[in-house]
Amino acid sequence: MLRRPRRNRKSAAIRSLVEETRLSVSDFIFPLFLIDGINQKVEVKSMPGIYRYSLDLMLEEIDSCLRLGINAFDIFPAYPEDKKDRFATESYREDTFYLKALRTIKQTFPEACIMTDVAMDPYNSDGHDGLVENGKILNDETLEILGKMTLAQARAGADIIGPSDMMDGRVGYLRKLLDENGFKEVSIMSYTAKYASAFYNPFRDALDSAPKSGDKKTYQMDPANRREALVEGQLDMEEGADFLMVKPALAYLDIIQLLHQQFPIPIAAYNVSGEYAMIKASAANGWLDGERAMLESLLSIKRAGAKVILTYFAKEAARIIT
Ligand code: PBG
Repeated sequence: MLRRPRRNRKSAAIRSLVEETRLSVSDFIFPLFLIDGINQKVEVKSMPGIYRYSLDLMLEEIDSCLRLGINAFDIFPAYPEDKKDRFATESYREDTFYLKALRTIKQTFPEACIMTDVAMDPYNSDGHDGLVENGKILNDETLEILGKMTLAQARAGADIIGPSDMMDGRVGYLRKLLDENGFKEVSIMSYTAKYASAFYNPFRDALDSAPKSGDKKTYQMDPANRREALVEGQLDMEEGADFLMVKPALAYLDIIQLLHQQFPIPIAAYNVSGEYAMIKASAANGWLDGERAMLESLLSIKRAGAKVILTYFAKEAARIIT
């Protein structure tokens, strides 16, 4: 036997020499859930270790993450039902708690990269990402609302906006609007290939944002489809996206790889709430070593071609990696 692959595995020193992929804390974006109020820290039931924070405690959380080397945060608001309406009006009301909090966060930590989510669902009484009329999700009418939301978030100091709504044409529409309003430096991380997935449920618990009727299949992609991700990727490229995101991550590693091979801009992957919950639940039962399963999952997402990983494990993984 001239070729014995095991020689390159014979010691930890050699294994680390030939290691092809290494996770770094700078790959992570940490999603955080914000609620109104003071001194509030409420655990998300289906996401042990993940909390909804009021602004004062979120500032402390961000500070402790920055010390661990996590520099990017995606901040989602959870609104009570009485603030929601069909048109997601609260999303662009200048003194709504979310936009005010973003300003404070950006002022307190100017060096941190703050990402926001552009979609109607946290503010929408229908629980959909777009405007609902007679059971249908209207595309072009939704763009106008997303535009107002985007400008409000940019004014509040967002560094990256993340359209997660999957309406057609939104990246180009938002890019143009941002540029015309003096926000040429605000980046767009497009949820390019966002699938209609069963893995979002814990997130919807965190935000109380589940659709009140129907599902999201007329806008989010069919898990059966791979080539369609190329259409979405090409449109987002042409429309000016700075990052292309695949979501969820683990069941879609082939899609991450595909976009990585096809498009010369950074690929992001969203290691979603259900993926977090699966590992936490089985670790709690003693069925898996949670720490190893976490690191193996994150590494595999990177190996598939994602440079950026949005993950609820960011803080836990950062403690181990650094
Ligand atoms: C909403 C949005 C969702 C997630 C991010 N933005 C949920 C959905 O589309 O229903 C999911 C994140 C997660 O599951 O961790 N537009």
